[in-house]
Amino acid sequence: MENNSLVTIAKYSKEKLLYLIEMAREFEKHPNRRLLEGRVVATLFFEPSTRTRLSFETAANRLGARVIGFADPKVTSNTKGETLKDTIMMVSNYADVIIMRHFLEGAAQYASEVSPVPVVNAGDGANQHPSQTMLDLYTIAQTQGTLENLSIYLVGDLKYGRTVHSLLTAMRHFNPTFHFIAPDELAMPKYYKMYCEEHHIRYVEHQDFDADTIAGADILYMTRVQRERFTDLMEYERVKDAYLLKRDMLAKARQNMKILHPLPRVNEIEYSIDDTPYAYYFQQARNGLYARQALICDSLGITLEEVKNDKTIIA
Ligand code: CP
Repeated sequence: MENNSLVTIAKYSKEKLLYLIEMAREFEKHPNRRLLEGRVVATLFFEPSTRTRLSFETAANRLGARVIGFADPKVTSNTKGETLKDTIMMVSNYADVIIMRHFLEGAAQYASEVSPVPVVNAGDGANQHPSQTMLDLYTIAQTQGTLENLSIYLVGDLKYGRTVHSLLTAMRHFNPTFHFIAPDELAMPKYYKMYCEEHHIRYVEHQDFDADTIAGADILYMTRVQRERFTDLMEYERVKDAYLLKRDMLAKARQNMKILHPLPRVNEIEYSIDDTPYAYYFQQARNGLYARQALICDSLGITLEEVKNDKTIIA
C-alpha cells in the first residue's frame, strides 16, 4: 500500500503540501468530528515520544476512530524475537492505518513495502519526520502568512535531527534561504547540502550564534542535540550545550520572527524566552493535532472536499 503511505515528505508536490495545510485549517476550525467512525488507527512506537504519539492518538480520537498500539516495544512480542515484518503483518490484520516510529533509518520504508494498509512514518532514526514537517509548514504559514521566500535559520543538531532534514526537503518548493548554525560535529550532512544545490536552495553555514547572526531570521528553528544517536557519549558531552538561545540574543530580531522547536527542549532555549512574542513552540506542538488529523484522513482516502462538506462536526 505504498501509495497511501507517508514515508518521506519528498513524496509530496507543492500542491499536495498546500492541500494538506488547507485540510489542517479545516480541522483547526472544528477538530471534533465523527469522520473516522468505525476505523482503527494503530500507533507503534519503537522509540520514546510525547508529542507525536499523543497528537496522533488525539487526532484519531477526535475524529471518532479507535486507537490501538504500544508506546514501548518491550511489552510486545518484539522481545521474543518477532520481526518487524511479522509485527506489521499482524497489526495490519487489526488496523486501517499504522503510525510507526522506529529507531532504524529506512524502517518506515520497509514497513510500507510489506504492509497491506498505509504506514505513516512518525520518525525513523535520523532520517525523516514527515508529520513533524506538516505541522512545521502549517505553523510557518500561520505565523508568516506565506511559505514563500523566507529566511529559515536551523540551529543545533543538524546532523542527527530528522526534523530539520524533513523541513529542508519540503521547503524546496518555496524558495527559502537557509542558514545552518551548528558546530562542526553536528553540521548539516553533505547529502542535504548537495540536495540544496540540486534544488537551487540558497544556504549559508555559521558557527557563531549571537544576536547579529540571527538578526535576519523569519524563522529560528532550534533543535535538541540528539543524545540517543551518538555512538561516542564523550562527543555528546562536548557538544550538548553548544547553542543556548538567551533572551538578550533577541535584541535585533525581526518583528515577525518566530522561534520554533520540535521539542522536547533540553538546554536550547532559556525559559525566560517563553513569554516573549517570538516564542511559538507550544502553539507549534498544538498544530500537530490538526496536521496529523489531515494526514490520517489523507492516508485513508478522505478528501479535502469531504472534510469541508463534513456533517459530523461536534460543537
Ligand atoms: N517533536 C517530536 O517528535 O516530539 P516527540 O519525540 O515527543 O514525539
